[in-house]
Amino acid sequence: MRLLVLGGTVFLGRAVSRLAQEAGHDVTCAARGASGRPVTGVRFVKADRDRPDGLSALDGERFDAVVDVTRRPSHARHALAALADRVGHWSYVSTCSVYADDSVPGQRAASAEVKEPAPAEVDNPVGEHADFYGPCKVSCERAVRDTIGVERSFICRAGLIVGPEDPSDRFPYWVARLARGGEVLAPGTPEDPVQFVDVDDLARWLLYAAETGLAGTFDGMSAPMPRGRFLAEVAAGVGRADPDLTWVEQDFLVERDVRPWTGERSLPLWLPSPEYAGFLSRDVTDSLAAGLRTRPPAETAARTLDWLRAYPDQVKAGGLEPAQEAEVLREWAAARRP
Ligand SMILES: NC(=O)c1ccc[n+]([C@@H]2O[C@H](COP(=O)([O-])OP(=O)(O)OC[C@H]3O[C@@H](n4cnc5c(N)ncnc54)[C@H](OP(=O)(O)O)[C@@H]3O)[C@@H](O)[C@H]2O)c1
Repeated sequence: MRLLVLGGTVFLGRAVSRLAQEAGHDVTCAARGASGRPVTGVRFVKADRDRPDGLSALDGERFDAVVDVTRRPSHARHALAALADRVGHWSYVSTCSVYADDSVPGQRAASAEVKEPAPAEVDNPVGEHADFYGPCKVSCERAVRDTIGVERSFICRAGLIVGPEDPSDRFPYWVARLARGGEVLAPGTPEDPVQFVDVDDLARWLLYAAETGLAGTFDGMSAPMPRGRFLAEVAAGVGRADPDLTWVEQDFLVERDVRPWTGERSLPLWLPSPEYAGFLSRDVTDSLAAGLRTRPPAETAARTLDWLRAYPDQVKAGGLEPAQEAEVLREWAAARRP
């Protein structure tokens, strides 16, 4: 198969091109080469999609399948205008941030409502427009469906993507924290759901979709699992079976300015409930039936730890610092004392 990856210089795009190359496909990546580098041995075509004719270096070429990861509606539209007639199958990597309601658990891609598309003046969901990430992805999804048609397009709404080369501070925080050992601050309750997808599992499914012509709109993530099991499995994966977890209630954390999800003073992968009770608890029965295969988190954690150790300078700072965690744990213990 001739596969074109629009992107391919970082994380998911690199995983798709690496796995496609290993499977013997003829892979081309088109990007600027600004965010990272393509996989060694994969054909790289320099392309700046900020320009309407940015993909002109591919003029005249035909591809069996395309995988696009863009967040910018103009990038999606220009690529579709340039390539739609010369491509068999089109996968678009979207996000579960397209959904209109983050509070209801158990929603399915087939029936959940999505946000409105981005307004015409918003094309890049960064800076003052960062809140338009979901709407921009909705616009991109629509452009793909409208141009390629539903029979030849695969819209894959990824959940949190985790594993080696993850440029964020989210999953890597828990891998590094549990590998360090000692008393670990765990947010909320052991029953709270968490949901994510290993980067290689998602990449493999994208490849499977391209190879088999899978069409439709699906969520790209593992089935939800209780946070207690998640932390225990990550700990086991990094050689710390039976971690010493202290569960601290949400309100206590919020009062002490411990922040959700990502960034400074945060506990990654933790989101306030009930507002986000549906964000990490989606029903992915349809995706699993359509070929998505997911591995246990212990395996992802072990691979991520190897990568963190090999490339410590690539890991983004974030999460609770050890002194901040120790302070919250001290205060929690004091508040529990009779
Ligand atoms: N990370 C998560 O947890 C998560 C969760 C849900 C959904 N998603 C979605 O999953 C996908 C992740 O993709 P990814 O890991 O490959 O990372 P990404 O950061 O989305 O990659 C963007 C790619 O597009 C290229 N690009 C950006 N601007 C360009 C331009 N002007 N011209 C040409 N190429 C350009 C970049 O390469 P150059 O900069 O080198 O040009 C890079 O290869 C995205 O669609 C994201 O929205 C991510």
